[in-house]
Amino acid sequence: MTRIGIILGSTRPGRNGEAVARWVHEIASKRDDAEYELVDLLDYKLPHLDELAMPIMGQYSQPHTFEWARKIDSFDGFVIVTPEYNHATSGALKNAIDFLYKEWTNKAVGFVGYGEVGGARAVENLRLVAGQLKMADVATAVILTFREDFENYSVFTPGEHQTGAVNAVLDDVVAWSKALAPLRAV
Ligand SMILES: Cc1cc2nc3c(=O)[nH]c(=O)nc-3n(C[C@H](O)[C@H](O)[C@H](O)COP(=O)(O)O)c2cc1C
Repeated sequence: MTRIGIILGSTRPGRNGEAVARWVHEIASKRDDAEYELVDLLDYKLPHLDELAMPIMGQYSQPHTFEWARKIDSFDGFVIVTPEYNHATSGALKNAIDFLYKEWTNKAVGFVGYGEVGGARAVENLRLVAGQLKMADVATAVILTFREDFENYSVFTPGEHQTGAVNAVLDDVVAWSKALAPLRAV
């Protein structure tokens, strides 16, 4: 069964990202085309990158890197739920991405952003990172704005149409995850 990780890219106390990621996971769990798992960066307690060798060498040494690598390696594709901090993704998510290399490659990725302009700038920022990691980023995305999808910047009230947007991202991520399977098998 194709496995898709839904990565919660914010670690801040009181983060809005938790409600968003749980909502994505709930929608995904109603589908039968893949297995969907929520991955919370908080569960991995990654320090600032502390590996001696470049991740592309695959010579990991730290127990937390092995644990993170095992989890990411277990997926065929991803949905990344990203906040927008200063027009980019979170430092915590970028750091977690930087820890690994081959565990990301030849896998599909779709994005769910939230913020003043729906986290669009963070999503575009992540597309550049995905390119370097040989990840196939799907064009569909979910863009959740504080004006339309939250109350008081803190209560998540997604518009009804956003469920369709999540499913459109999942359709693409699952299709591309399956299509890339032969490359991952090499
Ligand atoms: C350090 C920092 C920088 C931020 N910069 C932006 C920004 O550039 N654009 C934006 O739309 N929101 C920005 N915000 C507001 C966040 O979108 C908002 O706090 C959101 O809830 C963050 O996600 P989180 O609650 O899951 O951490 C920023 C928030 C923080 C803490």
